[in-house]
Amino acid sequence: MSTLTGKVALVTGGSRGIGAAVVRRLARDGAAVAFTYVSDLGAQRAEAVVAEVEALGGRALMIKADSADPAAVVEAVRRTADELGRLDVLVNNAGIFPFGPMEEVTLEELDRALAVHARAAFLAVQAASPHLPAGGRIISIGSNLAERVPFGGVALYSMSKAALGGLTRALAREFGPRDITVNVVHPGSTDTDMNPGDGQDADDQRALSALGRFLAPDDVAATVAHLAGPGGRHITGAAITVDAGTNA
Ligand SMILES: NC(=O)c1ccc[n+]([C@@H]2O[C@H](COP(=O)([O-])OP(=O)(O)OC[C@H]3O[C@@H](n4cnc5c(N)ncnc54)[C@H](OP(=O)(O)O)[C@@H]3O)[C@@H](O)[C@H]2O)c1
Repeated sequence: MSTLTGKVALVTGGSRGIGAAVVRRLARDGAAVAFTYVSDLGAQRAEAVVAEVEALGGRALMIKADSADPAAVVEAVRRTADELGRLDVLVNNAGIFPFGPMEEVTLEELDRALAVHARAAFLAVQAASPHLPAGGRIISIGSNLAERVPFGGVALYSMSKAALGGLTRALAREFGPRDITVNVVHPGSTDTDMNPGDGQDADDQRALSALGRFLAPDDVAATVAHLAGPGGRHITGAAITVDAGTNA
């Protein structure tokens, strides 16, 4: 039996990149996995992710849900519990990367980043709470830029991701008595559409890391799987940095 057999997970932003790797990994570990996406490109990629999981004998459910829309976040949680029968693991992963001088950030961009990264995570936990059993897991994907910032242009991104640290620590206390763990994983530079490993400043990012390399999405998924599985049962309120030593 696999570590997550009989469990159900919901991963926000599971159509591409790190989220898709988490969906595949949790499914490989035995969970039925629902995941959200928002764009037309995401819909195509989401279908491919579902097909991959099903080809391995697993179950996946794609749900269109904009994390910036509170009702859509709550509805995604409801559909997961209704259609897959329960909810054990919530992974708040959906994210965007606003970049540029803070003077140029518009109010709309400010609100959207805070909504997608912070408000959506809060609302998803709130909606998931009545479903989560003892042994449940809440895992958010932050960023190593939430903790240290080696270059300019990321004030909004860093601020919105840093909120997940406070949420995680506070919720670890709130959910601890129910034997539910709450953690945040802070990835460093990871080769995805958001941050391609052959992108313009990819070599600069490599140079900032101790190990001199990018992560693959599967590397982040491995840490999420550890937290979601039995090995994570005593880890709560933690921020786990998986960044090839960039923040060392
Ligand atoms: N890549 C890195 O170097 C890196 C480093 C640190 C942290 N992270 C964080 O890791 C997470 C995943 O990033 P990634 O690199 O895998 O990015 P990505 O390749 O751009 O994928 C982003 C995923 O999030 C979804 N998404 C974006 N906005 C959404 C919204 N409003 N509602 C619902 N889903 C939404 C996308 O859906 P569609 O496919 O429908 O667009 C897609 O599935 C993000 O939170 C990011 O901030 C990434």
